Amino acid sequence: MRCGRLESVHRLPPVRIFSGIQPTGRKHLGNHIGAIRQYVEGQDRGDPAIYSIVDLHATSVAYDPAALPRYVYDTTAMVLAAGLDPDRCILFRQSDVKEHTELCWLLCSVTAHGDLNRMHQFKDKSAQQRELISAGLFLYPVLQAADVLAYRAHEVPVGDDQRQHIELMRDIAERFNAAYGDVLVAPEHRIPEVGARIMDLQEPTRKMSTTASEERGLIFVDDDEDAIVKKLKSAVTDSGSEVRRSEDKPGIANLIEILAAVRAVEPDEIEREFSDSRYGDFKVAVAEEVANYLAPVRERYGQLRPDEAALEAALQQGAESAREIASDTMVDVRGAMGIGAPRPA
Ligand code: TYM
Repeated sequence: MRCGRLESVHRLPPVRIFSGIQPTGRKHLGNHIGAIRQYVEGQDRGDPAIYSIVDLHATSVAYDPAALPRYVYDTTAMVLAAGLDPDRCILFRQSDVKEHTELCWLLCSVTAHGDLNRMHQFKDKSAQQRELISAGLFLYPVLQAADVLAYRAHEVPVGDDQRQHIELMRDIAERFNAAYGDVLVAPEHRIPEVGARIMDLQEPTRKMSTTASEERGLIFVDDDEDAIVKKLKSAVTDSGSEVRRSEDKPGIANLIEILAAVRAVEPDEIEREFSDSRYGDFKVAVAEEVANYLAPVRERYGQLRPDEAALEAALQQGAESAREIASDTMVDVRGAMGIGAPRPA
């Protein structure tokens, strides 16, 4: 197994990292700051770092089957453009590794129905469905648990909206181990201190989200400079004029958080620097810096996205490595649960 660079220098115990991202077409600034750039940070630290484009999760709500394979390529190109390197991490399409669906079913035996009922994301997403609230949407967190537990990962880099799902997968792993023996690892989330919940620019009391936000409220990672500047300049700000975070200033607080994340500094530093600025000047500064920050990713995305054969090859290479790890776990899970033919003594 590969050793992360940091680990060999500081002799930290090996850490296995896993995260998943949905192939929902375009990705936004929240995905990038909250999650994708943490994936990149983890790829040399992880032993290994494993990232999945979770196409099976995409079927839990109404979706377009003809578009889904393209969305997988969009998201693959997006994470590669952000800096993932298929030779330094494992990047694969979830449905290429059948162990995820098998483990999902087996984990249902140690998942409490009541816990699934309490999931915020289930409540929010089921309220958005017009025709069918599928059982898949209800079981979504169990499949997510299977994603991580199949690799016995220690660390899961995610944005703040995934906190409850990670807590649930810890409970599932612990309940499994208590019932069947010590087979699975209860993982920890890794949520960034700054930028864990980027908010909608037009409705800053709710998170930026491709499904819930209007286009004006979202910055897409592949938006061109003009679009980014326009959206940030017209971001909703609050009454008052001071560039300072407070509960009654969610719009300004969000822009402070965005700039702090982009510069990788503390929000206090942004408040100090802009203490004499007006909202308008501050918004222009945020717009320019966000546009500069995303420009190289957009450019690289434009280069990578057209070559679908190369994207597919990267995913296949990743699936092979992922399968090796997940199938090992499944031998232990099946054995512990008494599934399949008895194991030779
Ligand atoms: P998804 O595809 O919705 O989002 C991908 C990642 O982006 C983060 N994120 C945000 N971070 C900050 N601000 C925001 N406004 C924002 N919106 C989204 C999410 O927290 C996530 O980390 N259920 C997961 C996918 C998944 C998964 C997994 C994650 C499937 N299996 C296993 C971790 C481990 C999801 O829907 O992510």
